[in-house]
Amino acid sequence: MTRHLLRDDDLSPDEQREVLDLAARLKASPYAVRSLAGPRSVAMIFDKPTLRTQVSFGAGVAELGGYPMLIDGALAGIGVRESVEDVARVLGRQVSAIVWRTFHQGYLESMAAHAGVPVVNALTDDFHPCQLIADLLTVREHRGELAGLSVAFVGDGACNMGNSWLLAGATAGMHVRISAPDGYLPAPAMFERAAEIAAATGGSVLAEPDPKVAVTGADVVVTDTWISMGKEEESAAREAVFAPYSLTSELMACAAPDAIAMHCLPAYRGKEIDAEVLDGPQSVVWDEAENRRHAQKAVLTYLLAAGAEA
Ligand code: NVA
Repeated sequence: MTRHLLRDDDLSPDEQREVLDLAARLKASPYAVRSLAGPRSVAMIFDKPTLRTQVSFGAGVAELGGYPMLIDGALAGIGVRESVEDVARVLGRQVSAIVWRTFHQGYLESMAAHAGVPVVNALTDDFHPCQLIADLLTVREHRGELAGLSVAFVGDGACNMGNSWLLAGATAGMHVRISAPDGYLPAPAMFERAAEIAAATGGSVLAEPDPKVAVTGADVVVTDTWISMGKEEESAAREAVFAPYSLTSELMACAAPDAIAMHCLPAYRGKEIDAEVLDGPQSVVWDEAENRRHAQKAVLTYLLAAGAEA
């Protein structure tokens, strides 16, 4: 059966650990695995802006011996010029995997249902699972075993990163606290799903409106832009409502003394995170950015192998 990574809970706790172990091995030996030798092609489609994702997938596919085929989402017009299903059937006959950054999670699911090759979510409105594999790898490097660590996500909990931290953190057995203003928490169904996963892994999930309470004693503190791609028209309203959730040095001081600060980037200094935190000694953001490549190589390699075995 073809395997995909469409959302964070597509990987079981064991599978997530396996992918993280593989990512760590690939980081130590970048050219040791040639899962795309041929070269086999990977289609990379972007319907939203990108820098890290395009570069890390492009470099990563090349390191695996493959060919990264960049497709301009605006030219392709998937779901506009042509149905997602028809595009999926065409691409699936040309390439070995499809990496897609788009708006609707449903579009990605249709692509996966019809492509016949692994489809990887390179960010949708709802999830950013590749970032979470990179982030969990980064946490492991700085804080060791993931299970039992507490993470506070502060800011726009209703965005892709809030949802992904809930699901991936719970899968890793972490204690995930989301601190967001009214109306910006992950949907109740997302909390329910994460709580169900946490019940099996020993983790937990919690919504905590007060950012100081959420961050107190946390091992990991995470934030993200208040204005995700596609939300630009809401900028003024969002800046007002999120101001008390800014990750300042004062807020960071509430965390565990050896806590790390994380941000998937791009970051807006003085808005969701202060420059002293982003550029300070507790920040691991550049490791996160580097780890995108190692994480995504592991994801592609894992999905291709899992599909071939079944
Ligand atoms: N929540 C952000 C993540 C950027 C990598 C966005 O969707 O724009």
